[in-house]
Amino acid sequence: MIQVDNLKKRFGDIQAVDGISFRVEQGEIYGLLGPNGAGKTTTLSMMTGLLQPDDGRVNFGSIDIAADPIGFRSQLGVVPQEIALYDELTAKENLNFWGGLYGLSGKRLQNAVSKVLERVGLSGRSHEPVKNFSGGMKRRLNLCLGLIHEPSALLLDEPTAGIDPQARQVILEIVEEVAKKGTTVVYTTHYLEEAEHLCDRIGIMDHGKILAEGSLDELKAMVGEEEAVSLFGSFSVEQARLRVETLPGVHLISAEPGRLILGTGDSGQTSLDLIQQMSDLEVERISIQPPSLNSLFLKLTGRELRD
Ligand SMILES: Nc1ncnc2c1ncn2[C@@H]1O[C@H](COP(=O)(O)OP(=O)(O)OP(=O)(O)O)[C@@H](O)[C@H]1O
Ligand SMILES: [Mg+2]
Repeated sequence: MIQVDNLKKRFGDIQAVDGISFRVEQGEIYGLLGPNGAGKTTTLSMMTGLLQPDDGRVNFGSIDIAADPIGFRSQLGVVPQEIALYDELTAKENLNFWGGLYGLSGKRLQNAVSKVLERVGLSGRSHEPVKNFSGGMKRRLNLCLGLIHEPSALLLDEPTAGIDPQARQVILEIVEEVAKKGTTVVYTTHYLEEAEHLCDRIGIMDHGKILAEGSLDELKAMVGEEEAVSLFGSFSVEQARLRVETLPGVHLISAEPGRLILGTGDSGQTSLDLIQQMSDLEVERISIQPPSLNSLFLKLTGRELRD
């Protein structure tokens, strides 16, 4: 079990993490979903003990990491967002190094390295230097860093960033597998589909806060029946905004040059109203988005999660 209470971290003028709390049960996959700069890495860094929080606490099971900074480390696996591999060393040498840091040695280390290389499909390339590896291979090897000592809690920071669908699938399957065996998992991502498919519960994060939390079904229920209608074109945002305010049952979600996003309970009627009201403005396209995690994100943040 992992319990995070009211974590805070400020860097100069930026409140990177602003009172984050969540709890993850054993064997559960908890997703922190948020755009660039939301505070995901800062949160994980405080959970690993790498970064000192300004306020708040992190507990792994019964261990408070501030009170016992060594005790939890052997039980914790971390997969960092930045690839933490030595280019000149082979895959095996990299894992020997990291496994050694986790206290493994001798036959146990060799067995652990072989097992984890096999699992990520890199056994055949284990004697090659990492500099020969593709981006997806590096990501798979990077995942091994968090798995090698079979920890009881695993923190992954965007472990599939920028890789092909096949390598991504391998990583997602492994994460599911370790959770099924009882590992407690925290998984940060800015890919909606990953959070939807992989995570048992999701915390939607922006500007250092968790704005909403729950299972996918619970989060979808928060959107209600509301659909998001987007207007694209070279119209004047101010003019368009004034027109929208006169329409019944519609509220403005966001307005930026080239795009206006509205929330409505009746997208058919709203589209007709828009066509009538906006006929003299430069509207090029209208698109309708049904209730989804994406529309909840839009509703909460006024922005879309884009890759
Ligand atoms: N060491 C630091 N010094 C100053 N500002 C920092 C530092 N680390 C993070 N920040 C700032 O804190 C905010 C949160 O950053 P963080 O890296 O936690 O976001 P993130 O959600 O992981 O984003 P991404 O998806 O891009 O990885 C950002 O505004 C970032 O610029
Ligand atoms: Mg990050």
